[in-house]
Amino acid sequence: MKLGSFRGVVFQSVLLSVGTLAWAAILITASATVLAQNSGKHAKTVRPDSERVAEASKIFAATCAGCHGLDGRGGERGPNIASRQEVQRRSDGELQRTVRNGISETGMPNFAFLGNAKIEALVSYLRVLQGKSAPEPIPGNSQQGESLFFGRAQCSKCHTLGGKGGFIGPDLTGFAEGLSPREMSHAILNPERESRQNRGSVSVTFVDGRSLDGIVRNEDNFSLQIQSLDGAFHLIQKAEVSEVKPAAKPLMPDDYGKTLSATELDDIVGFLMRTARKESGRAVPKEKHEDD
Ligand code: HEC
Ligand code: HEC
Repeated sequence: MKLGSFRGVVFQSVLLSVGTLAWAAILITASATVLAQNSGKHAKTVRPDSERVAEASKIFAATCAGCHGLDGRGGERGPNIASRQEVQRRSDGELQRTVRNGISETGMPNFAFLGNAKIEALVSYLRVLQGKSAPEPIPGNSQQGESLFFGRAQCSKCHTLGGKGGFIGPDLTGFAEGLSPREMSHAILNPERESRQNRGSVSVTFVDGRSLDGIVRNEDNFSLQIQSLDGAFHLIQKAEVSEVKPAAKPLMPDDYGKTLSATELDDIVGFLMRTARKESGRAVPKEKHEDD
């Protein structure tokens, strides 16, 4: 991708965000009463530590409901994101990215300006609206899964889980929330294909011929912040850059189908599902071994 078009996208999204803010301000006051009813209706599914989620429900009402409806089931300007299976099945990580980056060429603006904490809370609140509750059986032996995750399979080199691990890949603590075992293993075996959006792993070429591979962590009209594989952050002026293109090779190994046995994959899936359920405060069923 040439830098020109990269910039175009940025300008477009900035414009959209500004528009959104303007009408969101109007909505804030109007939505307070409806919210009260709403939180009553969903009280059963709200997490015990729901302060964060309660705050997110206000942000949702002010920022998202204008298009998606207060209950998330769709409005004039945005689709149903509460009861549609397609959306329910997306990982927390994916939904967070959608909210952070928007979906270009559609009416879905980007909300990067909210910051990661609020975006994460918004997605938790979206899960409440989705009323996801039916727990799926967890496959594998999650203790084995844990030692593989932090050991031989090297997942923790790149992924954080419960505050431990690397930062180059997405945090997987709550990733399995709302996913079936099949979807989980699919996500591990096809990390790139599973994603609908460009995850921002890029190869930057500088005017002076140097190059740098990494993930775009931040961007404005004049600069890019890239995190390279070693975890280091690089602030780059766009004026020094000649080209930014999607990385030739995905960062996430795509051969876990070969390097892990089916049992080991189940163990890791089980471990990630168990972790996500603990994280969300839901009851975790007893360890039980079953086939998918
Ligand atoms: C200006 C209208 C508008 C606003 C404001 C808006 N959205 Fe959207 N949103 C859309 C549209 C339109 C789409 C469908 C995009 C497409 O065609 O794929 C969408 C798509 C989405 C999706 C993806 C659904 C899928 O298929 O994966 C999610 C999640 C989402 N919005 C969440 C939010 C959240 C959370 C907020 C508030 C922070 C928000 N939206 C604010 C218009 C909006
Ligand atoms: C060398 C770094 C690296 C290793 C090792 C690695 N990953 Fe990843 N993983 C990534 C990156 C980066 C992404 C984001 C997608 C991309 O750019 O390829 C990702 C994406 C994922 C996703 C999809 C996340 C989402 O939000 O859609 C899952 C699930 C995942 N990894 C699980 C694992 C598991 C389980 C292991 C170990 C068996 C593992 N990864 C090992 C770097 C890594």
